[in-house]
Amino acid sequence: MKRLQLLVGMILGLQLAHSGDGGTRMMNTEIDRKVEELLAKMTLEEKIGQMTQVAESTQENKALVRQGKIGSFLGITGARDSNDLQEIAIRESRLKIPLILGFDVIHGYKTIFPIPLAEASSWDPALATRDARIAAREARAAGIHWTFAPMVDIARDARWGRIAESAGEDPFLGSVMAAARVKGFQGEDIADLDAVVACAKHYVAYGAAEAGRDYNTVDLSEKTLREVYLPPFKAAVLAGVGTFMSAFNDLNGIPATANNFTLSTILRGEWKFKGFVVSDWGAIRELMNHGVAANPAEAGEKAVTAGVDMDMVGQIYSEVLAGLVKDGRVHQKIIDDAVRRILRVKFQLGLFDRPLADPARETSVLLAKEHLDAALEAARRSIVLLKNDGEILPLRKDLKSLAIIGPLADDRGAPLGCWSGKGSPEDVISVSGGIKAKLSSGIQLFEAKGCDVSSDSMAGIAEAAEMARKSEAVVLVLGESADMSGEGASRAYLDLPGKQNELLKTVYETGTPMVLVLMNGRPLTVSWAAEHIPVILETWHLGVRTGPAVADVLFGDYNPGGKLPVSFPRTVGQVPIYYSHMNTGRPPTDDRFTSRYLDVPVTPLYPFGYGLSYTKFRYSNLQLSTRTIGPGQNLKIFAEVENVGKRPGDEVVQLYIRDLVASLSRPVKELKGFQRIAIAPGEKKRVEFTLRLEDLSFYRGPDREFAAEPGEFKVWVGPSSVEGLEGSFEVLSK
Ligand code: NOJ
Repeated sequence: MKRLQLLVGMILGLQLAHSGDGGTRMMNTEIDRKVEELLAKMTLEEKIGQMTQVAESTQENKALVRQGKIGSFLGITGARDSNDLQEIAIRESRLKIPLILGFDVIHGYKTIFPIPLAEASSWDPALATRDARIAAREARAAGIHWTFAPMVDIARDARWGRIAESAGEDPFLGSVMAAARVKGFQGEDIADLDAVVACAKHYVAYGAAEAGRDYNTVDLSEKTLREVYLPPFKAAVLAGVGTFMSAFNDLNGIPATANNFTLSTILRGEWKFKGFVVSDWGAIRELMNHGVAANPAEAGEKAVTAGVDMDMVGQIYSEVLAGLVKDGRVHQKIIDDAVRRILRVKFQLGLFDRPLADPARETSVLLAKEHLDAALEAARRSIVLLKNDGEILPLRKDLKSLAIIGPLADDRGAPLGCWSGKGSPEDVISVSGGIKAKLSSGIQLFEAKGCDVSSDSMAGIAEAAEMARKSEAVVLVLGESADMSGEGASRAYLDLPGKQNELLKTVYETGTPMVLVLMNGRPLTVSWAAEHIPVILETWHLGVRTGPAVADVLFGDYNPGGKLPVSFPRTVGQVPIYYSHMNTGRPPTDDRFTSRYLDVPVTPLYPFGYGLSYTKFRYSNLQLSTRTIGPGQNLKIFAEVENVGKRPGDEVVQLYIRDLVASLSRPVKELKGFQRIAIAPGEKKRVEFTLRLEDLSFYRGPDREFAAEPGEFKVWVGPSSVEGLEGSFEVLSK
């Protein structure tokens, strides 16, 4: 019977949704019927209640839940606390509509995984799916139904602290990661016990904030919006994401929270998104600060008519919507549609059948061994080896002495990174903890902070240098604390903060071989280190298993294979910097009157897609299945990658294209495919990519037709955005 239902559903193109774990499947039409039934019983106040989200479980809010005037909470976590609230909704409110409880489960709930920027460095979407699935399992067990993730903003400006939450600078990589995370959070069915409904945020172009200053203005062409900033959101929709969050920023003068064009025309019109949209925190009220609403009523009217269904904490909808409907300024249908969308997700989540969390399950699920093992694997796969001159790494395990220095070496808070859910430092193994667990007791270990992350004191530097002097090798752990990236954490300088550069230079001058371990939430300008320090490891904020993962890499128990998902600037003056730029009329040469700087090269310090390994890979034999590609055809691209070193290793093989001449300028390179593959020493693997005309298309001209133009294209297969085997092919006219 179930199979038949499934078949009918597939034939009709209908989606199916569970009504409970292991329970019978419910057709979306069934859900729609239930939604209509419920809607018909609701008063206007109860409808507005469904559109209202608050953050505190106060007596006043509990009373409002009883009256049906709150439909959602954010930040209430734990099976018991969430059940307390839910019980009020399902037992004491007139219509017994369950609450939807949301939380920022960005890179883990209790078991904290690498920050999203780090996870993108793994170039491993399956890993991202698995991490999100574990995060969802823990969150759901703790009474959470809805995560405000994935954050899918493209970020090309390292000053913007929220780059840490993103997959970096590239729309292709960003789209793959967006879809992978949505699938992980939502699983097969959001009613399942290990799933939550995801939320693609922040819609849209929040990452393009002027000057990298959080919440700042965004002014973008529609071309750039469609080519760069929208694709990960569209990928999230295609992956079935249930909700969206509108962004704080204004886009070309229209705040994202009141933007008809992005919310209605594109999201619901072009993409047919059926889920609901929540505002960002207080963003509806902020329409007054933006200067597009004179009072709360205007703010509420603009947001709801643009398509924002739920008011996150702003208390605007609860204040003004009823009056707006009564005055005829907001049509009843707008309210009904918003409530329909919200109720539909509540039904899909199975909340009417199983509204409460099970405290026993919560205890058994959080920090389960399998989750911690996955966190270790994720951390290892996210590490990027930036430099390894003289092959100092991996370090020998039989060192007689080692100095572990730096303010972050034994820090258990920083590895959690920003938005660390319910993660806690006690669950983190620091870098020095990881190293100590690996080494025999015979080794003489010296440990010193040297300085703080950001204070001006130089008091500990001399002592740290003394320890370096006494040791055979130094591991120096520098970077940013967890609160230096994320929301409201923009920086105008991208250097190592505080006196860390002084510490770095002083330890370097001791002459002891050293490894610089960077722990940070954004690309840092580390030009001096890149020039002087022989070994640099980018570890970002890797989560609870930071120490073991870094130690595994330092001592060769794991061969790093991550690649940068974002360009590293040499200096903040180069920002925004990204590989996929236009050629300009005067591409940089040594000539002064070309697009360059007088005082710094135009190239990044480390390019997008870059990362080393303890082994070496040789690329050869680029082949194309055809020299020409026309409508309906595929172009297959093959290359061979051989591990010519002595250790097994992973390589992220990347495919880039360039459209040489078109009606609009096209980027000098665009990522169109990648595969992370494991290759044994001496082994050669053949990698295959497929390009379709759609992959070569762009939004042309004023009518925004999405099409590929005839003409010559270049193609590269290689280890980064600046290297690779080169070929070419031609797109034929229709
Ligand atoms: C504001 C942030 O911009 C958003 O990302 C987050 O989900 C909400 N606050 C809720 O915490």
